[in-house]
Amino acid sequence: MTKDDILRRGRLGLQNEQVTAFTSSLEADRWIFDSDLMVDRAHVVMLARQQIIEEDDASKILLGLDQIRDNGIELLDSSYEDVHIAIEARLIELIGEDAGGRMHSGRSRNDEVASCIRIALRTDLLKLAGLINKLRAAFIDKAHEGVSLIIPGFTHLQHAQPTTLAHHFLAYACSLERSFERLTDAYRRVNLCPLGAAAFAATAFPLDRAYACELMGFDNLLENSMDAVSTRDFAIETISMCANLMTDISRFAEETILWSTSEFNLVELADEYTSTSSIMPQKKNPDVPELLRARTGTVHGELVSVLSICKGLPYSYNRDLQEVTPHLQKALMVTKNAVGITTKMLGTLELHADVMHDKSLSGFSMATELADTLVRITGLPFRTAHQIVGSAVRAGGLDFNRVEEACESVTGRNPEQLGIKRDALEQALDPISSIDQRSIVGGPAPTECLRSISERQRRLKTDEETLNDINDRLILARKRLDDASNALFVS
Ligand code: ARG
Repeated sequence: MTKDDILRRGRLGLQNEQVTAFTSSLEADRWIFDSDLMVDRAHVVMLARQQIIEEDDASKILLGLDQIRDNGIELLDSSYEDVHIAIEARLIELIGEDAGGRMHSGRSRNDEVASCIRIALRTDLLKLAGLINKLRAAFIDKAHEGVSLIIPGFTHLQHAQPTTLAHHFLAYACSLERSFERLTDAYRRVNLCPLGAAAFAATAFPLDRAYACELMGFDNLLENSMDAVSTRDFAIETISMCANLMTDISRFAEETILWSTSEFNLVELADEYTSTSSIMPQKKNPDVPELLRARTGTVHGELVSVLSICKGLPYSYNRDLQEVTPHLQKALMVTKNAVGITTKMLGTLELHADVMHDKSLSGFSMATELADTLVRITGLPFRTAHQIVGSAVRAGGLDFNRVEEACESVTGRNPEQLGIKRDALEQALDPISSIDQRSIVGGPAPTECLRSISERQRRLKTDEETLNDINDRLILARKRLDDASNALFVS
């Protein structure tokens, strides 16, 4: 701390370096440096319009802020406890206290920091939304490649029923659609304006909160001033959305790891997403999906950290809240990187179509279809058909003779007497015809997958338009703020 620390000089003595290092958020505040300058500019433009400060002082402040922006965060005095006070101190150094000392009128760092976090967060959220859409597109493309590709489907990681690769990848595309929806829903509550709440009790200065809100591109005010500075629900909600999305990424990563083992051998990762061993020269290890799986744990940890930090806090602001911001930032950073790399990894994934097809027949995977066929043709109750097929599997397999024996022992009648012919039973064992028949909505039949692909594409297009609209609105707000600042220079 310097002797004329603008924050402490009145009330407090010097702080030792160890305490400053312990309490300072300056390093983490890099994330909100640009947003803080936006908040400062909007606040100053509004103060001038409300005649709370002179236009002349406002234009000096705005010029000083531009210079601070051009010089970057590096030139700020790092002995200050956060970016807000470091910027203000630098401003006063540049233009003098008579003008610079007026910037913080009617404001507290509490409403300031909450505004900054929301602005930085919305930028990251919109980037993440774009990345989610790219991943959706990648799953849709791969699904297209795999419309007629038969793969083994699992429950309990045991062979269950055959399906198509399209069906499997469309499952991820559908889930990502919901992540996009969760993101834009969270965005609606992130993009609200706390500024004007001051420390928590608002201010008697005649601020125009709605005008500052508009200049910063927020969609609405966070009305109650105590709520505005105290809440971090938007951070919890955002990290929760990330944690949910990462859980999907992790499941896909896990499947990629399994599917690329020599035991499964359904896919092969492109070399660049793998590593080799320093001792075992043959190794091709799936390090990228392994790290995706691990980073999911990191994001889950960020969620638990923030929930725990917030749960015991009395209203309104407590310094504990500062500790939330790095967790939020990290959750976003890790999730954005993960979604981006997953898209590229998926795009280069090699599919072993023959192995997929062969393995889709193992594990008596046609048993369900056979039981269904017995029901459809003979009119037996499903539970009886289930017993017949289960007994045939137990006896060693699903060939005609075993099914015939099982029929007789369970019902006392052979298939012929039940009204089912040998070729109908044999056809039930053919995965292609079985999948073709599963054409109800959401099923794996190629015709249904093609329909689902077009539906996913249609929704993706709509969501991209939504995203463009949000981005355009922010560009417009930025222009409004620039115009309003420029107007102060010429007047
Ligand atoms: N660095 C602080 C944070 O991130 C800014 C707000 C400080 N307010 C205060 N009353 N000490 O929360």
